[in-house]
Amino acid sequence: MKITVIGSGYVGLVTGTCLAEVGNHVMCLDVDPAKIALLRAGGIPIYEPGLEDMVRRNVAAGRLSFTTDVAESVAFGEVQFIAVGTPPDEDGSADLQYVLAAARNIGRHMQEYKVVVDKSTVPVGTADKVRQAIAETLAERGVDIGYSVVSNPEFLKEGAAIEDFMKPDRIVVGAEDDLAIERMRRLYAPFQRNHERILFMDVRSAELTKYAANAMLATRISFMNELANLAETLGADIELVRQGIGSDPRIGYHFLYPGAGYGGSCFPKDVKALIATGREHGHAMRVLTAVEAANDAQKLRLVDKIVAEYGEDLSGRHFALWGLAFKPNTDDMREAPSREVVRALVSRGATVSAYDPVAADEAARVLDGTAGLTFAQDMMSALQDADALLIVTEWKMFRAPDFEALRAALKAPVIFDGRNMYDPAWVRGLGFVYHAIGR
Ligand SMILES: NC(=O)c1ccc[n+]([C@@H]2O[C@H](COP(=O)([O-])OP(=O)(O)OC[C@H]3O[C@@H](n4cnc5c(N)ncnc54)[C@H](O)[C@@H]3O)[C@@H](O)[C@H]2O)c1
Repeated sequence: MKITVIGSGYVGLVTGTCLAEVGNHVMCLDVDPAKIALLRAGGIPIYEPGLEDMVRRNVAAGRLSFTTDVAESVAFGEVQFIAVGTPPDEDGSADLQYVLAAARNIGRHMQEYKVVVDKSTVPVGTADKVRQAIAETLAERGVDIGYSVVSNPEFLKEGAAIEDFMKPDRIVVGAEDDLAIERMRRLYAPFQRNHERILFMDVRSAELTKYAANAMLATRISFMNELANLAETLGADIELVRQGIGSDPRIGYHFLYPGAGYGGSCFPKDVKALIATGREHGHAMRVLTAVEAANDAQKLRLVDKIVAEYGEDLSGRHFALWGLAFKPNTDDMREAPSREVVRALVSRGATVSAYDPVAADEAARVLDGTAGLTFAQDMMSALQDADALLIVTEWKMFRAPDFEALRAALKAPVIFDGRNMYDPAWVRGLGFVYHAIGR
């Protein structure tokens, strides 16, 4: 099939590349000329394991191309994926300006039947707005051309995006006409040779499914964070509690790790947007409001522990910080807890030396001008003369450090571990003061 992907970010680039990998011809569009120039020159704008090779292979095979030319991109694909950003508006609701701009572009240039697929995470009712935006632009042109609007939310995880796209747990498709259903079935046939993975449903249910999934995962995290904070006070170990409940198949082990709060481009904005949708329709989303409040507090949990240890005034204190990305295996800094931690520490007068194996450049960009923050070239040099080490992202390379070298580099052997990386008894046995979450 010939496919256009509108928006070449984390989701669009992975979607386009994986669809090309199975033999389709894909054109990826973006409004950002620098991004398209980089992609055309063989670079990729994000860190995602395995993506660069796959992009290169498919470009070389002539199946994948990049453009900023809207008319060319609309003409190209019989299927047009919309994979642009849906950031939070001022009231927390999803800002649909980019989605609707993409829809209008399709309406402005299309010459024959198109299947328009919303892959961006969008509130219930957005497919209707996309349909209307296209209808209006077609009417302005005075033409009558057929099209279908489909909801196909994306469930990939950054850091494992290719694996998730190539071997999805499920493919949710909200489509209500036979032609669109047939196209979507054909499009995804290569991804379900092992067993049927497509769940066809009505468009509104598909749109809501994406928010429901992220809201459920965020809820599990906030629930565990609150429980961890309580466990700490009660003298229980949340890690043992986690195993104790995870073994129940009704609960399961996934997403039960307490930590320094959830971040990233999805959970925070999607929880906000679902709360806003509820508000708009007269439903107070009480559980999600609490999930969000608990997470806001949890992002500062490490700072609370530091203040408890050293007092409110941290001037003259220097901290090493390991991990800046909102989670391992990505350079995504959107809503990363590290941003809150750094801000809170430097605003109290401390200085911070931070290390992240891939997100340092992106962190330098988003934390630009933060006085008191410097970036270390490697994990050990970040420790030099620090009063304590903070761990904010659980990169694998932090799992088994050389504790002797660590103690030698730090000014004092103190660790504030926001990701429960180590066995408390073991590190304490090595002479460290070890603060974890709920242990
Ligand atoms: N990142 C994830 O892990 C993830 C997972 C599932 C779903 N989603 C959802 O997918 C959507 C995209 O997320 P992302 O992380 O890929 O965002 P992103 O910011 O990385 O990428 C969006 C891209 O769209 C481009 N763009 C904006 N308007 C455009 C237009 N009119 N025409 C062409 N390009 C345009 C931007 O320049 C940008 O490159 C969001 O709704 C998000 O919630 C993201």
